[in-house]
Amino acid sequence: MTSNRPLFDAYPQLKDALPWQQLADLPTPVEALANVGANAWIKRDDLSHAVYGGNKIRKLEFILAEVMAQGREHVVTFGATGTNHGVATAMLCQQLGLRCTVLLFDQPESNTVRDNLQRMKKFGAELKFCGSLAHTVMRFYGHPLRLSRKHYFLFAGGSNIAGTLGFINAAFELRQQIEQGQCPMPDKIVVPVGSAATVAGLTIGAAIAGLRTDIVGIRVAPSHLGPIPTCTVATVGQLMKRTCRWLSRNKIALPPIPPPTLIDTYYGEGYGVRTEEGDRATAKFADCGITLDQTYTAKAAAAYLDSIIESSEAQLYWHTYNSRPV
Ligand SMILES: Cc1ncc(COP(=O)(O)O)c(C=O)c1O
Repeated sequence: MTSNRPLFDAYPQLKDALPWQQLADLPTPVEALANVGANAWIKRDDLSHAVYGGNKIRKLEFILAEVMAQGREHVVTFGATGTNHGVATAMLCQQLGLRCTVLLFDQPESNTVRDNLQRMKKFGAELKFCGSLAHTVMRFYGHPLRLSRKHYFLFAGGSNIAGTLGFINAAFELRQQIEQGQCPMPDKIVVPVGSAATVAGLTIGAAIAGLRTDIVGIRVAPSHLGPIPTCTVATVGQLMKRTCRWLSRNKIALPPIPPPTLIDTYYGEGYGVRTEEGDRATAKFADCGITLDQTYTAKAAAAYLDSIIESSEAQLYWHTYNSRPV
């Protein structure tokens, strides 16, 4: 397989071990955010695809290649009614001739929810409205199609090992951009955390690519579902551990990998519920021509603005929300 992803340049042995299919427009630009501050930078993953961008496209390059390599024909996944992951998965499944089903749980109404439901239908996904998150998770894990090997069950947000590898590749992509002088080495990268592969991949990737950068995740999803932890340092750490085991099995020597950093204080009253700090960040970023969403990026950007005020070092906000119009 030939590839043009920096992860394969760093570890040529992965070319045979890791299925990959070019689906994203990479590298995404890295730009100064002059209206925010002299040390403010943004990574424009909103431009990762000409039709529908955002952070999911990077994960799906590896996930859907794995689906095809395993000879599966149907992807079953789940997310909230406004799921960006559902839209990206539906779009790329349609492109690859795969069937796609999305199990949906309720979230507060917003323009994103309306637009994304419309997009998923347009991309031919079968939508199953399941009500609560708990109910949806039960339907996903107890699904009768799990008995057949034709179906690929994809965790919410594309956060499995293949998806995490997409964000390890992203850290190498940023290193290339730093080496080319497109931006300084950031002291900190701020990113939202939902299903966790983004922060997990960047944390591992920054360590193995030798970036002198702290990866800071802003939690925007519930930390627990009843007594079960769903978005915590431990759950992110588990995904990182599984991914590191996969890398070690493929003969990649790993440096010490730090535990993930998660900040809880920007979550507000719930998943998808807007916050005042988020609204202020949305207005500030709109001045720079960047559109935020209330569920993920407004909360992460609010944390980023607080952090950049206190620092004289370069800091990078990793923008994860699609900016292509419906
Ligand atoms: C716009 C946006 N940003 C950030 C995230 C969080 O990424 P992850 O699920 O990898 O933690 C998501 C996930 O759904 C998202 O849609």
